[in-house]
Amino acid sequence: MTRILVVDDEPDVELIIRQKFRRQIREKQWQFDFARNGVEALEAMRRTPDIDVILTDINMTEMDGLTLLKELREQYRDLSSVVISAYGDMPNIRRAMNEGATDFLTKPIDMADLENTISKSIEVVSQLKDARRSHQEKLEAEAANRAKSRFLADMSHELRTPLNAIILYSELIMEEARDVGALDFVPDLRKIHLAAKHLLTLINDILDFSKIEAGKMMLSLETFPAFEVIHDVAMLLHEAFTRGGNEVVLDVPSDLGEVYADATRVRQCLFNILNNACKFTQNGKITLRARRVVVEGREMLELGVTDTGIGMSAEQASRLFQPFTQAEPSTSKKYGGTGLGLTITRHFCEMMGGGVSVASEEGKGSTFTLHIPVLVVEHELSTAVVG
Ligand SMILES: Nc1ncnc2c1ncn2[C@@H]1O[C@H](COP(=O)(O)OP(=O)(O)OP(=O)(O)O)[C@@H](O)[C@H]1O
Ligand SMILES: [Mg+2]
Repeated sequence: MTRILVVDDEPDVELIIRQKFRRQIREKQWQFDFARNGVEALEAMRRTPDIDVILTDINMTEMDGLTLLKELREQYRDLSSVVISAYGDMPNIRRAMNEGATDFLTKPIDMADLENTISKSIEVVSQLKDARRSHQEKLEAEAANRAKSRFLADMSHELRTPLNAIILYSELIMEEARDVGALDFVPDLRKIHLAAKHLLTLINDILDFSKIEAGKMMLSLETFPAFEVIHDVAMLLHEAFTRGGNEVVLDVPSDLGEVYADATRVRQCLFNILNNACKFTQNGKITLRARRVVVEGREMLELGVTDTGIGMSAEQASRLFQPFTQAEPSTSKKYGGTGLGLTITRHFCEMMGGGVSVASEEGKGSTFTLHIPVLVVEHELSTAVVG
């Protein structure tokens, strides 16, 4: 039901309106309240703030319509107001419209016109309310997202400290076990050590992701030899390369030159796509190719990883870069992982002014290609927000 307040000092207005809109009143579509001047109108608003539409005369004693409008605008936001005045009173009507009135009517009031105007005003109010509601929802969603990012960041931070202790002490005990010849313990200790390291990577990924999402990820740029960084990652993955019975081809020339970028993040991006290739390929071939190329007039380091693994369909490939998304729901059960690696990779590459692309065929294999500018430009760094 819509509540309408009519403000007019002519006594018969109430009678006319009750008569004219008796159907709407009977069917409880519209409910009318009446006031004789601005002061009474403000009192009525205080008593029943759920009034949606106000029809007000301009010339009244006590408080005129224009003053009333001004007061209302300051106190009530989702309100539609219609001013009524004599046809010759255009200056006041214009003032009222400038003050935020939704519409106006001239006296003598045409009843059909009045009905239309009320209907239109009701629509305006409901639009106002919808707009405010969605704005409010947006603000709440943003606040919730910020709280989530903060929680993730805090939690990951808290989790890392004890985890690093587990890693360190499992290493120490492993060494001691070797020293005292308690070799039976070593395989189990290694499992603890590996599991803790794995957990640490997951936590670091979540921390990175929450920082990216909050637009707080910073890069630290430095000059480094590209070959060394690529070589480091390949060494790090040595065990993973051989575990799946894969043949590994490294096509990485030593004269790749220097790159000015974030070395840690470049390492991390390459690690992610190489690690994926190992994870999703059995008894196949993994090729890492590095070279310098020019893309749209800009010199880039191109790192391509091709595998002959499970591959994916075009539809699956289109979803890859979304956070916590894997090609299939069964992926996590079969291969592990959280589905953050590629999202983070894409954001780091884009922040540096590059990108990542994928070409894949289901059952045949995939190629992931990273592009990183050879000279990342400081002022181009964007704190990309996950979208
Ligand atoms: N080389 C690949 N071959 C086949 N599928 C792949 C390959 N790389 C990625 N994918 C698909 O893309 C999904 C997302 O990859 P992403 O690296 O983001 O997550 P993940 O490896 O599952 O988990 P995480 O990297 O967070 O540990 C994978 O789950 C997999 O379905
Ligand atoms: Mg991954």
